[in-house]
Amino acid sequence: MTTITLPLWYDLHVHLRQGENMNAYIQAQIDMGCAGVLAMPNTKPPVGKVLDSDPLDYWSIEYYLHQIVHAGGDAFKVAIIPLYLTKDTTVQMIENGKRSGLLRACKYYPPHGTTNADHGCPLESFMDNGVLHAMEEHGIVLCVHGEDHGLSGVDYFDATTNAEKSFYLKVMPKLREKFPNLKIVCEHITTKEAVDFVHISGKNIVASVTPQHLLFTVGHLVQGLKYHLYCLPLVKFEADRDALRQAVIDPYNTKFFAGTDSAPHTTKATECGCAAGCFTGGIAPQLYATAFEKTNLNLDDRLSQEIFERFLCLNGAHFYGLPIPDKTFDLVREESVVNVLNTKAESIVPLPLGLNMTTLPWTLNV
Ligand code: NCD
Ligand code: ZN
Repeated sequence: MTTITLPLWYDLHVHLRQGENMNAYIQAQIDMGCAGVLAMPNTKPPVGKVLDSDPLDYWSIEYYLHQIVHAGGDAFKVAIIPLYLTKDTTVQMIENGKRSGLLRACKYYPPHGTTNADHGCPLESFMDNGVLHAMEEHGIVLCVHGEDHGLSGVDYFDATTNAEKSFYLKVMPKLREKFPNLKIVCEHITTKEAVDFVHISGKNIVASVTPQHLLFTVGHLVQGLKYHLYCLPLVKFEADRDALRQAVIDPYNTKFFAGTDSAPHTTKATECGCAAGCFTGGIAPQLYATAFEKTNLNLDDRLSQEIFERFLCLNGAHFYGLPIPDKTFDLVREESVVNVLNTKAESIVPLPLGLNMTTLPWTLNV
């Protein structure tokens, strides 16, 4: 039976939310071998300031970090919380944040473009007000949710274009040109255009990839309207998935890494729509391994295991300057059953169950 021993890894894009369910979400990360997280700031209110002493009416990184630590996050080696870029983000906030040691990244959300993105402002506004310039100067990473905002109908999603594709063709090249040394993570990319953009950019521009975008396409979402697969950016087409797969299995890959975007929703489908976000806590390495083997890679083979390790454990850590843990966990080729996550009030359906996949071909020993 194949056993892959890997260093504990960092989930470099996850939603830990707030309130009493945080413990369960954090435990799910620990259960899947995470030594640390990059925890998204789209809480309510958002994490829109760095320090508690700042009078603005947002949560601070300082405060959210405390909450994470108290909810079991003290087990993490690292917890990075990117600052949510809002209309109130200033150059001074970046400078003071850098000095405090608490600010390592900022998050761009397209206004109203995804769950709790209502405080986002157009990327162009930060190009002009000095914020991105200050980030570039101080080595603060820009985490980008790369979708055009305010689109509808065919412009939002169609066979030849979509909100991500147009963003990577029009907005990102402008960003790269204006701030050539800015460290950028193109988060949860889903399209061939985003993959190409990362490939042709310098070392300072990298990307995270989720399990769902490596495994599924829009057909899986639409057939039977499997709403547990509804996340943003949307799963795309075969050519896009193939570009993502080729990028992550490249033996020379240093730029593409794991960031699950695991995003639990206590109420997923409503009467007039559906909350965006797939929950993959506890099972992401198993899902990534499954996706890798949808290509010509066989994880029984040592070289393929190294490619997988670079994607899951090394590339992202290197980019963020995080230490590779000495502690390890095992990924074993043995079928495992997928369970719902029970919290005090409600249960969260993990993505595979929402697609009627009750087992996975891998088991974790952490
Ligand atoms: C995320 C969430 O639920 O907070 N949803 C999602 O579909 N990925 C927000 C996000 O990262 O876009
Ligand atoms: Zn997310």
